[in-house]
Amino acid sequence: MASFYFTTPIYYVNDKPHIGHAYTSLATDVLARWKRLEGHDVFFLTGTDEHGQKVEKAAQDAGMDPQAFTDQVSQSFRLLAERMGFSHDDFIRTTEPRHKAACTALWEELVRRDEIYLGHYEGWYAVRDEAFYGPDELVERDGVKYAPSGAPVAWVKEPSYFFRLSKWQDWLLRYYEDNPGFIAPASRRNEVMSFVKSGLQDLSISRTSFTWGIPVPGDPAHVMYVWLDALTNYVTAAGYPDTGAERWKFWPADVHFVGKDIVRFHAIYWPAFLEAAGIAPPKRVFAHGWWTIEGQKMSKSLGNAIDPLALIEQYGLDPLRYFLLREVPFGNDGDFAKSALMSRNNGELADTLGNLANRTLSLIQRNCEGRLPAVAAGTEADAELLAGLIALPAAVAAHLEAQEFHLALEAIMAQARAANGYITLQAPWALKKTDLVRMGVVLRHLHSALRVFATVLQPFMPGTTAAMLDQLGVPQQARGLADLAVPLPEGTALPPPAPLFRKIEDAA
Ligand code: ME8
Ligand code: MG
Repeated sequence: MASFYFTTPIYYVNDKPHIGHAYTSLATDVLARWKRLEGHDVFFLTGTDEHGQKVEKAAQDAGMDPQAFTDQVSQSFRLLAERMGFSHDDFIRTTEPRHKAACTALWEELVRRDEIYLGHYEGWYAVRDEAFYGPDELVERDGVKYAPSGAPVAWVKEPSYFFRLSKWQDWLLRYYEDNPGFIAPASRRNEVMSFVKSGLQDLSISRTSFTWGIPVPGDPAHVMYVWLDALTNYVTAAGYPDTGAERWKFWPADVHFVGKDIVRFHAIYWPAFLEAAGIAPPKRVFAHGWWTIEGQKMSKSLGNAIDPLALIEQYGLDPLRYFLLREVPFGNDGDFAKSALMSRNNGELADTLGNLANRTLSLIQRNCEGRLPAVAAGTEADAELLAGLIALPAAVAAHLEAQEFHLALEAIMAQARAANGYITLQAPWALKKTDLVRMGVVLRHLHSALRVFATVLQPFMPGTTAAMLDQLGVPQQARGLADLAVPLPEGTALPPPAPLFRKIEDAA
């Protein structure tokens, strides 16, 4: 048993959650659940990023005290995590005392190592991104300058502490070279590497023009830069600065899941801060792509941000979880269209998987008195079906190891289509009159297929697969990957089947 640590970004509490936030955490949840299914010890962290100018401003706009405001908005992210069925082990808020203690300790360590100095910052800042930009990165429209993200920037001039980032440039490039899997996908890795090669400047890591943040030790006129504060959450939750804590065994993190908008912070600043403080950098940062909504950028002003809770209500949780990871190759941008959700649900979940389960289990119920037929050697067609099934868990594991969620699901669907081909050809419904023994063999093979599908799909659709495994007569304690090697006993009583998926009639 090995330990694995997976994280989501901690989300800003300036606004309520939308489908983009649900997406990153869903991917993290699926990998965490998969590793647990393999029998490993997993720590899955999510939470909220509550300091900084952007959140302070949102609280002001809401006419609320920032702490009361963040208490409220953070709760909506917690609720989302619950409704999405996430299996996180901890939910961190950056306003918690344990996090302030960790940030303070990290800062002091960096000071001790002479990685921080006091200076003066003068340059461009985008509050929306909480990010500094170089003049060459900006574009100007109607007298306003914008960052590449589209966020407007303003000129900032204030005393500031700096982190000696420039000093870590060569180390970072070597780290990327030595660890080719550190940044994924490859397009993001190239982007980060060329940014670092173009030259790193020391990074401003404190602000004096507002107060909503963690005070700089020994100089409370400054608050820590919100990204230093935010990134530190990943070690706070692992127990930092108590590196003797039980949870510290999970550090370094195995995968930080992020969107492509924040890859720079995770793949440049974060490993540099850690290395400078003598802490091991994370093993991998996966930056996925961007969802648009029916062809448009999701935004507050367009009013088209999709509320995941409404989608769950309308389509059910598991069809949504399935769709999000099935539709778009993980890493690419994608468009969210309800019609696409409908066709994935109807074509793959209802028609392919649901139908197969329903036909198989109804036949066992009707023709075998609801009892599982014996395992038996069979024909070439049987052997072919079984060979595909036996190879499936390892294929899924390999895809998930590379965060290829769409390929994992495609591999499962390919086997489900093969099993549908098998049932059509073998026509067990017709064997009732001609060959009862053969009918039993065919139904048993189909049952085995369904057990494999349900087992490997658990991380993606926990609710539906639990119901499916109930209907298949698989005991609670026999639902791990290793249990697939042990066949259920002949004669196991199966409960009457019930539909697992329903068709969506109208995508509107
Ligand atoms: O950046 N498509 O928080 P944030 C896909 N607090 N993913 C999307 C998305 C979209 N349209 N919109 C948002 C922050 N996301 C910082 C993080 S971590 C130490 C601090 C997802 O609330 C995606 O994961 O702006 C993106 O990186 C994240 O939400 C940004 O969330
Ligand atoms: Mg953002």
